[in-house]
Amino acid sequence: MDHPVNHFENDLVAALSSNVKHISPKYFYDVQGSVLFDQICDLPEYYPTRTEMSILSENSKAIAQHIGPQAELIELGAGSLTKVRVLLRQLELPTAFLPMDISGDYLRAAARDLQKEFPKFAVSPIVADYTHDWTLPDPLPETRRRIAFFPGSTIGNFLPAEVDTFFANCRKYLPGGALLLGVDLLKSPQIIHQAYNDAQGVTAAFNLNLLNRANQELNTNFDFSQYAHWAFYNAPQQRIEMHLVSLKRQEIELNNQLFVFEEGETLHTENSYKYSVDKVQKIAAKQGLKAGPVWTDPNHWFGLLWFDIPDFETTKGEKNESYLE
Ligand SMILES: C[S@@+](CC[C@H](N)C(=O)[O-])C[C@H]1O[C@@H](n2cnc3c(N)ncnc32)[C@H](O)[C@@H]1O
Repeated sequence: MDHPVNHFENDLVAALSSNVKHISPKYFYDVQGSVLFDQICDLPEYYPTRTEMSILSENSKAIAQHIGPQAELIELGAGSLTKVRVLLRQLELPTAFLPMDISGDYLRAAARDLQKEFPKFAVSPIVADYTHDWTLPDPLPETRRRIAFFPGSTIGNFLPAEVDTFFANCRKYLPGGALLLGVDLLKSPQIIHQAYNDAQGVTAAFNLNLLNRANQELNTNFDFSQYAHWAFYNAPQQRIEMHLVSLKRQEIELNNQLFVFEEGETLHTENSYKYSVDKVQKIAAKQGLKAGPVWTDPNHWFGLLWFDIPDFETTKGEKNESYLE
């Protein structure tokens, strides 16, 4: 098992021990989870992927100009590396591409394919959990700026305090750089609801795969037929919640302990917060990030938001320790 930071067992024990059972969505992503997520991206109901792709395609030249020449691109939660190709084709002399993802085998295979397509710069995958410290190599001498690309509205999976930490990490690890952030924007709850309740049941399979993964890696005894996918838009919280609902009273064995699910009790597996542009910019501003252009689609369903990250000099009034000119 190639998981770099395998806290799955501890976190699942903590979740199952709790009255309100909740586990991080990062555990969806073994190879099977990554494959299922890619299938979700192709679903007619799942508007975020095709909307973000259309924004990228329409604006790739303007975004590349903002990124500038000799940039190093770091993609967080990189997945299949489909979206970044649109950007990489437009960049002027990029120095390196560092895709970071927790789903190690899947990332390495995607990075190998990308390197063949883009032989002029190094593609160096980083198998890591970005909710922990970011372990980035030193930038190459010719690198002028480091840019983080965080698409897919994966930021929506963070709780509010985790969003603050994320922006603080951008400032800590990418001084003088920039962030290009994909955000799923507020819209009709009906459209959002359908995106997580597709007719083919792929999102249900993705959700249930968490139990499959636990059975394979932690030797639990989850019976998938006795759990149901449940996703709904929590309007006051402005988020989709995904749960697995226990269809009967059942006991789960894990780590020589027994955990009980009562009938109707749920394991809360994911939040996906939806935002206004203004709200994201205000949260980022609290950590010192400076909002730049926003690229969006005609319906304003999705936004690609640019942020400049202050360098050390601006941040602390100290000598500029960054590698920027
Ligand atoms: C919603 S998918 C987005 C994939 C792709 N970036 C896109 O836009 O289609 C989230 C991606 O982030 C990765 N991921 C989730 N939690 C992570 C974490 N804590 N650290 C690193 N990668 C993570 C998953 O493996 C998955 O590839």
